[in-house]
Amino acid sequence: MLRTNTCGELSGAHAGKKVVLCGWVQARRDHGGVLFIDLRDSFGVSQVVCDPSHSSAVHGAAEKVGREFVLRVSGKVRRRPEGMVNPGLSTGEVEVLADGVEVLNSSELPPIEVDDRVVAGDELRLKYRYLDLRRPVMQHNLRTRHVAAQVVRRFLDANGFTEVETPLLIKHTPEGARDYIVPSRIHPGRFYSLPQSPQLYKQLLVMSGVDRYYQLARCLRDEDLRQDRQPEFTQIDMELAFVEEEDIYSLVEALLKELWGKVRALELKTPFPRLTYRESMERFGSDRPDTRFGLELVDVTEIVADSGFSVFLDAIKRGGIVKCINAVGCADFSRKDIDELTQFVAVHGAKGLAWMKVGESLEGSIVKYFGEDVQKRLVEAASAKKGDLLLFVADREKAVFASLGNLRVEIARRLGMIDESAFRFLWVTDFPLLEFDEEEQRFVAMHHPFTAPKQSDVHLLASKPGNVCARAYDITLNGVEVGGGSIRNNRPDTQSRVFEALGISEKEASGRFGFLLDALRFGAPPHGGIALGFDRIVALLCGTHDIREVIAFPKNKKAENPMDGCPSSVDAGQLKELHLSVKE
Ligand code: AMO
Ligand code: AMP
Repeated sequence: MLRTNTCGELSGAHAGKKVVLCGWVQARRDHGGVLFIDLRDSFGVSQVVCDPSHSSAVHGAAEKVGREFVLRVSGKVRRRPEGMVNPGLSTGEVEVLADGVEVLNSSELPPIEVDDRVVAGDELRLKYRYLDLRRPVMQHNLRTRHVAAQVVRRFLDANGFTEVETPLLIKHTPEGARDYIVPSRIHPGRFYSLPQSPQLYKQLLVMSGVDRYYQLARCLRDEDLRQDRQPEFTQIDMELAFVEEEDIYSLVEALLKELWGKVRALELKTPFPRLTYRESMERFGSDRPDTRFGLELVDVTEIVADSGFSVFLDAIKRGGIVKCINAVGCADFSRKDIDELTQFVAVHGAKGLAWMKVGESLEGSIVKYFGEDVQKRLVEAASAKKGDLLLFVADREKAVFASLGNLRVEIARRLGMIDESAFRFLWVTDFPLLEFDEEEQRFVAMHHPFTAPKQSDVHLLASKPGNVCARAYDITLNGVEVGGGSIRNNRPDTQSRVFEALGISEKEASGRFGFLLDALRFGAPPHGGIALGFDRIVALLCGTHDIREVIAFPKNKKAENPMDGCPSSVDAGQLKELHLSVKE
C-alpha cells in the first residue's frame, strides 16, 4: 500500500507515530504561514500541518495544491494543542506534522463542492457523479447499501434460500409498467423485454424444485419517475414452495429485524401491525399509510346527509362520500393557508375543500347549512376540540381518498408532527384481486395476474370480479411501499379463470404465458413470495426518501444519465443490423 494508515483512523493512541497517508485535499487553510490541509479518503478526514519552520520544502509543495489534488503525506502524528481539538471529527484529537508531501495527481477546479455542507444541484451532481460520490455522506450510503446486502444474503442463506440468477433478456412479464425492449439482430422484427421483475422465472424455479429462491434482482420499468422510483432498481426477490401468508409475514419480519438491528442497531418490534386494504383506505386514504401521526380520515357521509349544504348533498346523490380530517390545533390557519390547502387537494382530484373552525361552537361560512344536532354529531365524530380545524372533501370515493390521504401528510409535515426517528412498519392485507380501469374500461390485476384469489371468493371471479379478495400483501414503512407479494395460482384451472376475469382469452394467454400454463400442468407446488424494494429500504436506513442517494449511478427525472449522456443515438449501421429505422 502507498499508505500506512487511513485518513479516518488516527487518534490519540497514534501520537508520536510516523505515518503515511493518501487522500484528496478537502480544504487548505493558511494560518499565518502555517498551512493546514484536510486530507480525505473514504474512511475520514485527517488534518495535515505544513509548517515552514519544520520543513520549507513541504510548505512550498503544499502551497501549490488545490482542492481534490491527490496527495501522499508522510509525517508524525501529534496531539492538537489545547483548545484546537475538533470533537466533530473522529480524528479531531490529533494532526499530522508533515515531513513530506508528494502530489500523486492534480485536479482541475472541481465543478461541485466535495463537501456534505454544500450540496450542488441534482443535474450537476449526476454529471460529476464521481465527485459527488466522494462526499462522506455518499460514501456512507454506498457502504450502508453494501452492509445491508451482506445482511440480507447471510440471513436468507441461513434460512435455506438458494440464490439464483434469472435472465435479463426475456419475454414480457407484466408488473403494470411499460417494458424496455431490446431488438433482436438475429430475428428481424423480434424483441426481448427487459424484466420488470423476475416474477415468472422465480415461480418457474419453485416449480423446478427449488424450495426457496432469492436474488438481489435488477428490475427495469419504463415509468414516470419520482423520488422513490427509478427505471432500474433492485429487489430482494423471494419465492418459496409450500407456504402461506403467515410464513411470508414472519420471514420478512425477521429479515427486516435483522437489517435494522445490524445496520442501525435498532430493535424493531415484531410482529408488525396489519391493516386490511379497505381499512387502510378508509382511515388513511392510502394503501401505504404513514402511521407516525394521526389525522385520520373520518367518514361523515351519513351525518352531513342531514344538512342543507348542497355541495355535500350533490356529491352524495351522485354516489359519492364525504370525509373529513380534524387538523388538531389548526383553527388559527388563515384564509391564505386554507386556500393553499385547497389548491393542494385540487392536484389530487378534489373539487374543493370545505372547512369549519372549532371555537365555542363551529365557525365558518358553511356552518349555517348545518343544524345544531348535525354540528354536535360532526364534532363528536371528529373528536374535535376548541382550536381545531375540520377539513372536508365530498366526491367519489377515489378522489376523497387521494385528496385527504395526501392532505393529512401535507398538514403533518407543515406542523412538524412527524417523528423522523420512528420506523413504523405495517402489513396491508386483503387487497382486491382486480380493479376496474376507467380508461381501458376493463378489469386489471391489482398486483399481477399470477396472484391467487382467496379460495372462498373463486366463485365470484366470473360474476363479481371486483369483489374478489386476493391473497396479496404489501409491507409499508413510514408511508412508503417497501415490498409486495402474494400467494400464487399453482393450479392451471384457477390461473385460467383469473385470465378470463382479466379479459385475456385462452389464445392470448397461451401466446403470452403458455410456458407458465404448461408448467402449472406438471405438478406445480403451492407457492408464494414477495419482493422488497432494496433501494427504498436502504434509503430509509440512510434517513432519506430519495433512492438516488443510495444508487451509485442513477438516472435523472427524465430517465437520462447526465454523466454518460444515455440514452443516446446509435449509428446507422447498428440500426440497419437490428432491422430498425428511426422516424424523424
Ligand atoms: P412490485 O411491483 O410491488 O412487485 O415491486 C416490489 C417492490 O419493488 C419496489 N419498486 C421500486 N423501487 C424503485 N423504483 C421503482 N420503479 C420501483 N417499482 C417497484 C417497491 C415495491 O414494493 N414481482 C412482484 C413481487 C411479487 O409478487 O413477489 C413485484 O415486482 O418497493
Ligand atoms: P362554493 O359553494 O363553490 O362556494 O363552495 C363552498 C365551499 O365548499 C368552498 O370552501 C369550497 O372549497 C368547498 N367545496 C366545493 N366543492 C367541494 C367538494 N367537492 N368537497 C368539499 N368541499 C367543496
